Amino acid sequence: QIRDRVFKHKNYNFLVGHTTPEYIDSLESFEIKDSDVFVVTYPKSGTVWAQQIIISIHELHGNQNKYSNNMERMPWLEYKTAEYTLLPSPRLFASHLPEHIMPPGVKEKKAKILYLMRNPKDNVVSFYHFSKAMADLDTPRALTKCQITGCIMPLYSFASSWFDHVREWYLNREQYNILFLTYEEMILVRSSVKKICNFLGINLTEAAISQVVEKATFQNMKNDTKANYEHLSPERFSGKFLRKGQIGDWKNTLTVAQSERVDQVLQEKLGDLPLSFIWE
Ligand code: PPS
Repeated sequence: QIRDRVFKHKNYNFLVGHTTPEYIDSLESFEIKDSDVFVVTYPKSGTVWAQQIIISIHELHGNQNKYSNNMERMPWLEYKTAEYTLLPSPRLFASHLPEHIMPPGVKEKKAKILYLMRNPKDNVVSFYHFSKAMADLDTPRALTKCQITGCIMPLYSFASSWFDHVREWYLNREQYNILFLTYEEMILVRSSVKKICNFLGINLTEAAISQVVEKATFQNMKNDTKANYEHLSPERFSGKFLRKGQIGDWKNTLTVAQSERVDQVLQEKLGDLPLSFIWE
């Protein structure tokens, strides 16, 4: 039963077996260091891409990367996969957590958060394809069958509503040391890498920036075993993690009515905020 695979805690759906309510509660006192770096996203917004960039920047800045994959170097905060107090500084974390579950210590420290968001139409299409490939997730039989906003907030799948995630992080942004970037801006990899370096306070030579950019292209990441989720067994994940990597793929999947529905909900839920998205 797919319902048994997720548990709702603090108004968020977590995957059973990946974390526990007790561990999530323990994040309230999770000790943050000034040097900690987080990439926070709603799922399928380009997390793994940002991980690759942030890891490469640190590697070229002299932080050795002896890890066998990016998930080890930059683990998920909400899934305790190692003893996080023992990780070398700067600790790098990825997270899909909504703002209200983020360890409160982040607000008191200089720890940095890169918040990455993607236009909700491409986001839901990417999530849909991912759900089909990932054994742990509920698979909507067809995108046409589920309410479009339902897919963005999968009832029995993990995560929460895309709209709530973006809204909550954006409204509380001033309490954090945070950089907002969009997936669509990241397509211009070089200028995004420079923005991220600036934010991290890391100076790289133009040649080093070129190396980061090269490592972060869709094709190179696809061939990079550290970056592309090859550590997952085929039983758990039956597809390519790096699927298409494009802006505007929603046009191949969403009907006009679904697309209009997203426009409408976007207006209702986020229309009062100065956020704009690139759709193609
Ligand atoms: S997850 O499961 O939440 O961590 O997924 P996430 O990494 O956030 O999102 C996966 C989508 O990001 C795309 N991706 C890229 N696009 C362009 N360039 C690069 N280098 C890149 N790396 C990852 C990935 O292909 C997924 O999007 P779709 O549209 O499904 O291809």
